[in-house]
Amino acid sequence: MRLSETVVILSRFVCFVIVIILLADRAIGIRFPDRISEVPKDSSNQPLKTAVFALGSFWRSEAVFGCLDGIVRTTVGYAGGSKTNPEYRSLGDHAESVQIEYDPRLINFRQLLEVFWFSHDSRQVFGQGPDVGNQYRSIIFCNGTEESRLAAVSKEREQTNSKSSIVTTQIQQLGTFYPAEPEHQNFELKRNPFLLQLIGNLPEEELERSSMAAKLNGYAAELCPSKIQRQIDAKINEIIRKGWPILREL
Ligand SMILES: *[C@@H]1O[C@H](CO)[C@@H](O)[C@H](O)[C@H]1NC(C)=O
Repeated sequence: MRLSETVVILSRFVCFVIVIILLADRAIGIRFPDRISEVPKDSSNQPLKTAVFALGSFWRSEAVFGCLDGIVRTTVGYAGGSKTNPEYRSLGDHAESVQIEYDPRLINFRQLLEVFWFSHDSRQVFGQGPDVGNQYRSIIFCNGTEESRLAAVSKEREQTNSKSSIVTTQIQQLGTFYPAEPEHQNFELKRNPFLLQLIGNLPEEELERSSMAAKLNGYAAELCPSKIQRQIDAKINEIIRKGWPILREL
């Protein structure tokens, strides 16, 4: 074989290898941009409403509500006590709580109450499962008489269904809600680096404002309703298959 022929064959081979590498990279490589900016869903001036509940560990409470359609964002914090500026290690007489901002056109207070009752055991005294203590007590916080009425009606119904065990849930007018430290916000999502990367490694402030982060936080804890859990599964699988683009909305 002449030298020029060898060179041609060799260079074709090199091209072939490069094409294979590029194809393989496209097929298996998910390319993540450093970050994306999410336009908050409430950028139009639709009026949002706020609700606060305490139902055990706030990591879990946030995951339960964050998944639901109509929830714009969730924040964990401390409420229901008298101590000013509570902290995780010294929250005084407060309860671990979740603040929910929601679009009342998509979900209402009555539906939030149903999720509240369904998502914890209101008959356990001062705790949920292994989490025992005053900070895990069950509270519905109300803003105004209509919410108090709905809360009382729902508690009565719950008590009727609970027969002999006492429903421990307290109903209180909402006072100050103290947001918890950043490391407790979207706690379940933060334990999942893959999902964090999938939404572009948002900086903390954006993560806390993001509706998608609230949803994925519930997904990470596997606490979404099964239909939503499956929808998110499908969306993530599609992105992995395509390798592009990043997850921008759910
Ligand atoms: C209570 O409701 C009123 C009117 O709906 C609203 O303006 C106010 O911000 C609410 N307060 C809290 C703490 O959410």
